[in-house]
Amino acid sequence: MVTQQVLRPQAQAAVFLVLTVREGSEAAVREVLADIPGLTRAVGFRSPVDGLSTVVGIGAELWDRTYDLPRPAGLHPFEEIAGHRHRAVSTPGDLLIHLRAGRADLCFELARQIMSRLSGHADVVDEVHGFAYFERRDLLGFVDGTENPEGDDAVDAVTIGDEDPAYAGGSYVLVQKYLHDLAAWDAISVEEQERVIGRTKLDDIELADDVKPVNSHVALNTVEDDDGNDLDIVRHNMPFGSVGDAEFGTYFIGYAADPAVIELMLRNMFIGRPPGTYDRILDFSTAITGSLFFVPTVAFLEDPPSAPVAAVTASAESPAAAPDDGSLGIGSLHPRAT
Ligand code: HEM
Repeated sequence: MVTQQVLRPQAQAAVFLVLTVREGSEAAVREVLADIPGLTRAVGFRSPVDGLSTVVGIGAELWDRTYDLPRPAGLHPFEEIAGHRHRAVSTPGDLLIHLRAGRADLCFELARQIMSRLSGHADVVDEVHGFAYFERRDLLGFVDGTENPEGDDAVDAVTIGDEDPAYAGGSYVLVQKYLHDLAAWDAISVEEQERVIGRTKLDDIELADDVKPVNSHVALNTVEDDDGNDLDIVRHNMPFGSVGDAEFGTYFIGYAADPAVIELMLRNMFIGRPPGTYDRILDFSTAITGSLFFVPTVAFLEDPPSAPVAAVTASAESPAAAPDDGSLGIGSLHPRAT
């Protein structure tokens, strides 16, 4: 079981492609997806030190159209979250392709190679080229990514385990494209900005609990389970923009073993905890896209089973599940895509 390269060091460059797949192109797209690990090796090998990586995510509707398999437990179309003031919109997306590297040219070349293979089958509905900005700052000027989990904690945060054995080793990814109102942001003081985020701006230290507002970004995104354990996600946000269009943005990308954790954070941000205390970052940032994807293992991408995974597991483990047609019932043990 080889997981896709979800956990990577923070990259210098990224390309985010969200695609829709044309009706009737499902089988062709499935074949291209199987080749993406190989395409990544081919482009990445030209500069191994730059660590080119790809993660492919599959949306719920494409899943149903493409794979004759039950949906992964957490996969569903992203549902809009409407707060009193701000909305986390849901926008179309059958595939997410997340490319990262130490150099922009590697991401660009791989995006070009993948899209030439998908030509006629899939359409780009959103394309963002992200760049690292100074000390991993977002365009609001704050260091972004500090509190990401590390090591085993990061693996646990993003990797599906025994709770959904058929898809163990996979992950989920939620993306949102935010545009910032930098004029409004720059009009408030640095101290006020720090109260919006919940950390200091220059040296990136978390504000003490007694001064950190309950509607700060950090406070609302600190979430726990019923037993008081921290619930983590792994974020690889990237700034992007266009000075000519006065477009300044953050591409939010969050990976998790359970998308409910990211959705809980979003409810805290957009509705508030308690309701009404929405995240003040939203007064300066508008979400213009939002989609959820399942991230299968490399083995699944390269060779997806064509029969329901649960049925495969049952016939492999339980003699009682053998068919009564006199056959050995092993035909479906290792089904292959046609
Ligand atoms: C923390 C920026 C959207 C989840 C942070 C921090 C910054 C930041 C500057 C503090 C440093 C750090 O620990 O990374 C942004 C910007 C966003 C955005 C500019 C888009 C406008 C989101 C969204 C989510 C999220 C949509 C979740 C759905 C988190 C989490 C933390 C965090 C979990 C760490 C909280 C902690 O444990 O201290 N973000 N963020 N962020 N953000 Fe965001």
